[in-house]
Formats: sequence, C-alpha cells, structure tokens
Amino acid sequence: MEEVFYITTPIYYVNDEPHIGHGYTNILADILARYARLFGRPTYFLTGTDEHGQKVRRAAEERGIPPQSLADEMVVRFLDTWKTLDISYDDFIRTTDERHVKVVRHVLQDLWQKGDIYLGQYEGWYCVPDERFWTEKDVANGICPECNRPVELLTEPNYFFRMSNYQSWLVKYIKANPGFIRPAFRRNEVLGFLKKPLGDLCISRPVSRMDWGIRLPFDDDYVTYVWFDALLNYITGAGYLNDPKQFDLLWPRALHIIGKDILTTHCVYWPTMLQAAGLPQPERILAHGWWIFSGSKMSKSIGNVVKPLDLVKEYGVDGLRYYLVRDMTLGRDAEFSERQLAKRYEKELANDLGNLLHRLINMITRYSESKIPGSGQLNELDRQLISSTEQLVSSVNGFFEEQALNQLLSVIMAHISRINIYLEKTSPWKLAKTGQIDRVRTILYTATEALRIASILLHPVMPGRTATLWDQIGWEPPKILGNALQWGELVRGSEVQAGEPLFPRIDGP
Ligand code: MSP
Repeated sequence: MEEVFYITTPIYYVNDEPHIGHGYTNILADILARYARLFGRPTYFLTGTDEHGQKVRRAAEERGIPPQSLADEMVVRFLDTWKTLDISYDDFIRTTDERHVKVVRHVLQDLWQKGDIYLGQYEGWYCVPDERFWTEKDVANGICPECNRPVELLTEPNYFFRMSNYQSWLVKYIKANPGFIRPAFRRNEVLGFLKKPLGDLCISRPVSRMDWGIRLPFDDDYVTYVWFDALLNYITGAGYLNDPKQFDLLWPRALHIIGKDILTTHCVYWPTMLQAAGLPQPERILAHGWWIFSGSKMSKSIGNVVKPLDLVKEYGVDGLRYYLVRDMTLGRDAEFSERQLAKRYEKELANDLGNLLHRLINMITRYSESKIPGSGQLNELDRQLISSTEQLVSSVNGFFEEQALNQLLSVIMAHISRINIYLEKTSPWKLAKTGQIDRVRTILYTATEALRIASILLHPVMPGRTATLWDQIGWEPPKILGNALQWGELVRGSEVQAGEPLFPRIDGP
C-alpha cells in the first residue's frame, strides 16, 4: 500500500474569528490533501483550534465570559468558515479535548521522569497591569510596549524543558535532512537562529497568575505553557495513546503546513520535544509567507482585516480558492489585492475557462444533438493537443511533491489557453457551414476531452465548479479520480446540458 499522506494545519487561536490569513493556510492544506486523494494516496487531514493560554483568557475576560465559553462560541465560527471554504478535513482537534489533555499530561510526566523537565527560576520584565512578561528588547527604558507603564523585573519559580540539551542534535538533524524544513531559505533561517546558544524553554505558568491551561501532572499549582500544549496536537490528532493503530499508520508521515510567523516554535521547540519524548520527526515542515495589505500587516487597529466569507459572497468559494494559490509563490509574502482577484476571476476563470465550456456545450448542442460526439480521424493539430494534455498530466505529480501550486495552476491554465487557441485554429463553426460535420465532431470531442482532463487537475483547487462542469459535459466521475486522467475516458453519446455560467459576471471592487 502506498504511504499515508498526513497533512496538518496550525491550530488557530480562538480569541477572534477567522480571517483571510487563516483561510489561506487551510485552503492550501486542503488543496494538497485533495491532490493526494486524486492520486489515490490514503490521506489524513487534520485542523483544529488552540484554546488555552493568555490570549484566549484575556479575550474572554474582555467579554466577561469564561474562556471555555468563548472557545465554544468561536469554534463554531471556524467550523462554519471551513464548511463554506470547502475544507475537507478528516479530523478537527480542540486542545480542550479530553484526548489531547491526556496526551499533554502524559508527555509532561514522561519528560519529568526522564529529568528533561526541572524546576527553575524565570526572570523577566513583567507588566503588572497587563499581567504579562516582556523580553529585554521589548521594554525600551523599562516601559511596557503595550500600555506604556513601567515594567518591573520579576523572578518566578517555573518549570523548564531542557531544550538546550538537544541543540547540537537538532542542528545535525536539519543538516542531514534537507527536505525537513521548506523552503530552503527558511531552513537556513532556522540554522542561523541555532548558531546562538539555545536556552531552556519555560513550559509552565503559575495558576495564581494564569489559570487557563492544562495542569502539570506533577505540580497542580501550574498550567502548561500554551505552545508546549498546542504543538502536541499533531500527535494527538494522529492517535497517540488513544488509537495506537492509527498512530502507527500516520506518524511520522506528517507534513506540517505553517505560516512563517511560527517557524521557530515548529522547527526548534517541536523537534526537540519529540526527540525528548522518543518520537520520530515529522517528514516536512512547510512554511508559507504572509498575505500583506498595501504593504502592511493585517490588523484590527489599521482596520484592514479581510474576512474570507465576504469575498466568497462576491467571487464564490472557488474563485477565492483559485486566487489565493494562484497569486502566492509558496514561501514568499504576497500582496493581497481584491483588484487582482477580480482581474484573474474575469480573465482566467470567467473568460478562458467558463467561456470555453459555454462555447463547447453550445456547439455540441448544435452540431451533435446535445451528445458527446465520437472522434474520427485525427490531424496534426488534434494530435498536438492530445500530446500536450498527456504531458500536462504527467507533470502534475512533480509540482505536487514540491508543493508548487502556483506553478501547477499556471501550467493548467496555459493548457486551457491552448484549447482556446486550438478552437480558433480549427474553427469548427466555419467547417459546419460547409457541411464537414465529421471533422467538426472530432474537433469538439478533442477539445472537450482536453478540457475534461484539465478540469480533473483543477478539481482540488475548485471542487464545486469543476463538479458543475462535469455535470454540464455529462461526465460522471469515478470514485478514484486519477483513473479518469486517461485520454478517451469521455464517453461518446453522453448528454451535455447547458447550465448556469461557471463563473458568473461580478461587479468587482
Ligand atoms: N495557535 C498558533 C498556532 C499553533 S500550531 C501548533 C497560532 N495561531 S494563529 O491563529 O495566530 O495563526 C495561525 C496561522 O494563521 C499562522 O501561522 C499563519 O499560518 C496564518 N496566518 C495568520 N495571518 C496570516 C496572513 N496575513 N497571511 C497568511 N497567513 C497568516 O499562531
């Protein structure tokens, strides 16, 4: 059996509702999961929510409700958003799930017994009104960067994970496994960070100061630091302790999709935690860049927060999914522009793809009694289109392995353009006027078949619209889609159906 493809997203803080950045990460993971399924690989896709810690506690306090109630309320927003965005996850993990609490406490106990956790003194600049620690570089002149009040140097007993013990092992591991952290420039960033001595990681918070977390199994006066808790979701989700059979299948086959902002936690904390726990490393950590907005970060105070659901209303879920992977080179930052989204929608989706389908259905209706025609003798132009379709199919896996989705989309869309050019060159509507009906039908079959195959390759990106396209060309997809990538699978005689435009006109920004 082929190896399982286990793909994870970061788990999202429930202090606020989902925005386009969260939407992007989950769409990206969803598309990769759908490509893996398309190739017949057994796939397991995990997403979820990060519910403990100061951020969530504070947001709940502001609302005057318990943190668990805030989490319960926000989780619904995430679930609704994922449903609207067509995210095909297999499991949704919440860090307040009992299965997860069990895993966190087990790992803590294990590391404590091994001597990898010890009680030490945490020293830092503390802002009493804000109830939070700052690092040396945050507090210029002893002033809290958030509220501008003086901070004080506070020492507090806390538990530490001996992360420093694993530094040289980690450096060796990253160097020996070039595919572990991607893209390569992020890997270099991590190696650069690891040139400085690594400290130990403070993994507890005293309940007297912060009580929203998982209690340490060996000291009830402390809760677990939110990152130590959150990272373990990836093994809980795979079934660690709770479903050993599933865990054996999934771990360590994992591909972690993350944003560049959480590189250190995933590439330094997480591998050392696993190593200490005696567990193997995930296969790959893939960090994508950020969507930026007119050169700046998205933030509530600037007032430029983009909600995915607002865009779905205008461009449809598939229009949005398409834009997000088309316009970002994985790993790099990209400027989010609704104008660009509208432009791509009009040109590539409504015109190149939608109109192509519309024209083909019209001609099949007119020249082939609404039935997929048979193909007659082929000429050079037909053969060229067939061979470029086959080349496209064989190139897809390479792009998938490299997670180069924008390149993949660009070669698929170039193929769509080729079909349009083929139609212009062969001009079946002209041939119809001179009664060359067999030739017309061969052209229509060839173009529709080239479109059908391209639409299968587009299916992971635009699952809804491609299914509509299949309805219109009267094609019923088999269970394992990959089998249908063969030229000639489109059956002669099936009924086509003119329907709604694939990508209706929009007003634009
Ligand atoms: N809870 C932690 C992750 C724990 S994983 C064990 C967290 N959550 S978060 O809700 O703040 O953000 C999660 C992810 O959202 C980021 O890593 C990133 O993937 C994504 N994004 C948030 N803003 C983004 C953009 N502006 N652009 C692209 N992705 C961004 O961090």
